[in-house]
Amino acid sequence: MTLRLVVAENPEELAACASDRIMDAVAGRMAPVLGVATGSSPLGIYAELARRVTFGSNPLARASIFALDEYVGFSADDSRSYAAFVRERVVRPLGIDPARVFVPNGAAVDADAEAARFEAQLISSGGVDVQVVGIGSNGHLGFNEPDSPLNSGTRVVTLSASTRSDNVRYFDAIESVPTQAITQGLATIGRARAIILVAQGEHKARALAAALFGPVSPECPASVLQLHADVTVVIDGPAAQHLPTVWS
Ligand code: F6R
Repeated sequence: MTLRLVVAENPEELAACASDRIMDAVAGRMAPVLGVATGSSPLGIYAELARRVTFGSNPLARASIFALDEYVGFSADDSRSYAAFVRERVVRPLGIDPARVFVPNGAAVDADAEAARFEAQLISSGGVDVQVVGIGSNGHLGFNEPDSPLNSGTRVVTLSASTRSDNVRYFDAIESVPTQAITQGLATIGRARAIILVAQGEHKARALAAALFGPVSPECPASVLQLHADVTVVIDGPAAQHLPTVWS
């Protein structure tokens, strides 16, 4: 594993470091492919990328975008869908052609077939140049919950109780949080040529330490990142608090 670790002093530095890495990874690519996570962790990065492309040239205008996951049961026009997040936070601000945006269709009648279709689409795109990922407080990567096979492809998964409770903040009640999602698998994510892991806050500290320095095991799905050749970890001080001192 080539692991670069940046412990940022503040949210601006975190967003700038991650954006530098994304811009490096797509530099010189005629048709870059960017993989995006949703959730709170990467919001500052997407805002920083948008600021950069507003004030400079925009290599991301030619990009294709692939989402990590989508809730089963939500169509793209549902404001709680990840398709809506990607549209509002990434596609519009970066001026990307919506025809090159790929999010699993959570409202598909056959979710298993949709997952397979998405995986095939990803492969035929030529693969992701740089994938942004967050980490769950339980160590999930995408929506690959603990005990996910390390060699998994895109598929339908059941969300764990801890993930549903972490995400209830986006819903009116726990009963409204979906129970299933379509997620890129751990092997799918691992095929990205470069990965940027972003995390803030002490509630991520234990999962991060397990992911980066614990055994590679389905118990901590994000530990699969240790097998990857090009991972940049951009985190804040509280998230770094359980990393070995030599790293933090
Ligand atoms: C989102 C995703 C999840 C999140 C993770 C962290 O597309 O796949 O793995 O990255 O749950 O979420 P936040 O950033 O909201 O803490």
